[in-house]
Amino acid sequence: MELESVKRRFGIIGNNTLLNHSLETALRVSPTDLSVFVTGESGVGKETIPQIIHQNSHRKHNKYIAVNCGAIPEGTMDSELFGHVKGSFTGAHAERKGYFEEADGGTLFLDEIAEMPLSTQVKLLRLLESGEFIKVGSSKILKTDVRIVAATNVNVLQAIDKGKFREDLYYRLNTVPIVLPPLRDRKEDIELLFRKFAQDFAEKYRMPVVRLEPEASEVLLRYNWPGNVRQLKNITEQISILETSRRITRETLISYLPDFSQSKLPVLARTEGAILPDEKEVLYQVIKEMRKELDQFKAIIQAGFSTSDEGSGKLVTPEDEIRTTYTPGAQLPLARTNYEADPRQYGEAEVVEESLSLQDKEKELIKKALEKHRGKRKYAASDLGISERTLYRKIKEYDL
Ligand SMILES: Nc1ncnc2c1ncn2[C@@H]1O[C@H](COP(=O)(O)OP(=O)(O)OP(=O)(O)O)[C@@H](O)[C@H]1O
Ligand SMILES: [Mg+2]
Repeated sequence: MELESVKRRFGIIGNNTLLNHSLETALRVSPTDLSVFVTGESGVGKETIPQIIHQNSHRKHNKYIAVNCGAIPEGTMDSELFGHVKGSFTGAHAERKGYFEEADGGTLFLDEIAEMPLSTQVKLLRLLESGEFIKVGSSKILKTDVRIVAATNVNVLQAIDKGKFREDLYYRLNTVPIVLPPLRDRKEDIELLFRKFAQDFAEKYRMPVVRLEPEASEVLLRYNWPGNVRQLKNITEQISILETSRRITRETLISYLPDFSQSKLPVLARTEGAILPDEKEVLYQVIKEMRKELDQFKAIIQAGFSTSDEGSGKLVTPEDEIRTTYTPGAQLPLARTNYEADPRQYGEAEVVEESLSLQDKEKELIKKALEKHRGKRKYAASDLGISERTLYRKIKEYDL
């Protein structure tokens, strides 16, 4: 497959040489069964690499399973990966297949591999070398044919030094290393990504596209993007939702960039009542949630209208109704007009009022998301628009 068509198919934006090189390597090794080790900072886009590899291999008609080793409790890791036999531990009411067996003939993506306990690492090494494994509680040797792609954002060599990662496993996994570059080393892609994300969110939230003023574009290039593409994407979404003006100034953009205002621009350090980037993230979650509720409300009204208007052939658009009912919120993303009218329309007073209970709101949102996904943090995090790691941190912070 050609590089460009891979990018199109997997929604990868960018033209940076390092990125292209990584993608080409992924394509070249796809037809083989070699293990691939994907590294790179958090948020650089590691998760599409195993998918590209699987889809371009002879295994594509078999299963692709992605396992986040960081999200599985240590105690159940072996059972999840290798399966268990009935009665092997309390609660093991029936025999269970592990991911290695499920993915037989296919590809297994072991994400956040550095989080794997040492005892499991030994078993994984054995499996990589011989294809053999044993279910928890069994003594029978089983075989499986799985292609492994692993990924991590931690410095593996350091983990080896600290005795947290086995060196032999590292060399075995690292047959083909793929390193994804951080965003700050892909300057030429930053604006491209911003424009694409701005376009996508404009479509998603049905509103005009946000655009950066030239001085704001410079800031985008000067910032060091510790959260990489994920951070750029989140910020673009926050700006799209929170800002009433569609022309983003340098100052506005800076107010969304955590370390920029503190380290490089002392003049813009916190003034009384200003919103910190962290608070913005929360505020944005609250507004996102409000939008969801409004959408539900809309759906209810729509349902009501369509039953009462059944057969009349009249096109029902209850939006005007909503706009008058929900004056403050509706000035925000829901309304398709008034964007350029008055940037401060969505005024300070409201913001201050919100921020009083932002923590509670955040906690509530997190709880709701976790309940909705029955505790599955990956999905809850993606619903909330935050990284899994941030979610872990918040769960701990709020003792949820
Ligand atoms: N080149 C790109 N083009 C478009 N979107 C991208 C690109 N790279 C990353 N993204 C997006 O950025 C987000 C983060 O990417 P991903 O989840 O793959 O990060 P990661 O490298 O696995 O980070 P972590 O180590 O924190 O898990 C995703 O929403 C992904 O779609
Ligand atoms: Mg990841």
